[in-house]
Amino acid sequence: MNDVSGRAVDGAAGLERVLVTGSQGYIGSVLVDHLRDHGYHVIERDLGLYSGCRYPAGSTEPLGWDVREARPADFDGVEAVVHLAALSNDPLGDLDPALTYAINHDGTVRVAEAAKKAGVSRFVFASSCSLYGASESGGLLDESAAMTPLTPYAETKVTAEAALAKLADDDFSPTYMRNATVYGPSQALRLDIVVNDLCATAAATSRILLKSDGSAWRPQVHVEDVARSVRAVLEAPVESVHDQAFNVGRTEDNLRIIEIAELVSDAVPGGAPVEYVDDPGTDPRSYRVDFSKIGAMVPAFQPHWTLADGIRQLLKVFLEDGMSVEDFPRYRRLHEIKRLIAEGRLEESLTWA
Ligand SMILES: NC(=O)c1ccc[n+]([C@@H]2O[C@H](COP(=O)([O-])OP(=O)(O)OC[C@H]3O[C@@H](n4cnc5c(N)ncnc54)[C@H](O)[C@@H]3O)[C@@H](O)[C@H]2O)c1
Repeated sequence: MNDVSGRAVDGAAGLERVLVTGSQGYIGSVLVDHLRDHGYHVIERDLGLYSGCRYPAGSTEPLGWDVREARPADFDGVEAVVHLAALSNDPLGDLDPALTYAINHDGTVRVAEAAKKAGVSRFVFASSCSLYGASESGGLLDESAAMTPLTPYAETKVTAEAALAKLADDDFSPTYMRNATVYGPSQALRLDIVVNDLCATAAATSRILLKSDGSAWRPQVHVEDVARSVRAVLEAPVESVHDQAFNVGRTEDNLRIIEIAELVSDAVPGGAPVEYVDDPGTDPRSYRVDFSKIGAMVPAFQPHWTLADGIRQLLKVFLEDGMSVEDFPRYRRLHEIKRLIAEGRLEESLTWA
């Protein structure tokens, strides 16, 4: 087995059996392939909310495992857990804040307690830079910066990190990956994240549509780099990652939304005008983030992708696959959940009917 920088490692620090929750989601689909490609034995767990809308087409069986029912037996023989399962963005959190707390906070604690009881030694938690909320100063925020979450989703990342920290001890090492907003292709594509949305719209309509005034700062990270950061943490000495938070991204890819739109516009063959929805508001979620800590403490991780290259990659994929506006709803998490509920396939509690 080789580490993220290509050096041979001794059985990835012995962590060969890794259980990934949220494995059928956007990041999970890329991460599972990445870990398997690097010799890990990966066990997948997911409710499978979006298994009906794979990209570019088709579906897969929902695994039907719910964080709200996690038990120690689920983690028998597992050495590390990567916990991605969540209601994964602000609109979903606004749909029903209580559900977001039940799945994202209580569910995370339940999964971690069950894993710890089963003897799991490492727990990698998908947190988010959105917990920084609105940065007053406009300066780069490192992991010690104040957290000012603006949404139920972001609040659950703050409270879950704090709850996991209480479980940290000599036998259980949680690590909190504060991911920037993610972009890039995945078999469980999401179009409710900004770069994917702008690129899909540009590919399908030859225009770029901003839903805000574009002034907010929003750092970005490629989904493959997120997967590589998780592997780097799994393979790092435990002292470097025990009870540590890491911002995950590339400091150069701290851009305003309007700057991201201009990068997309420049990359579209023949160009694409940047337009605004009627009466675009200002997005209060605005933060610039310092991503140097992970590179210093986990030197095997360095991001590979620049945002400009990632945008070119996405546009190429979407143009080749013939992305069209009719495809958009199935790749928007809130829309898909509402559709499943309206069709009677999913309960309001987000359990399968
Ligand atoms: N994508 C981003 O921009 C981004 C940025 C920062 C942090 N994150 C975090 O990374 C993680 C993964 O995000 P993603 O973009 O892959 O989201 P996603 O919505 O594509 O995937 C989340 C997965 O969790 C599953 N899930 C939801 N409720 C569940 C439950 N009760 N039990 C079991 N599984 C459940 C869903 O079925 C889905 O497959 C989330 O925790 C998210 O908050 C994502």
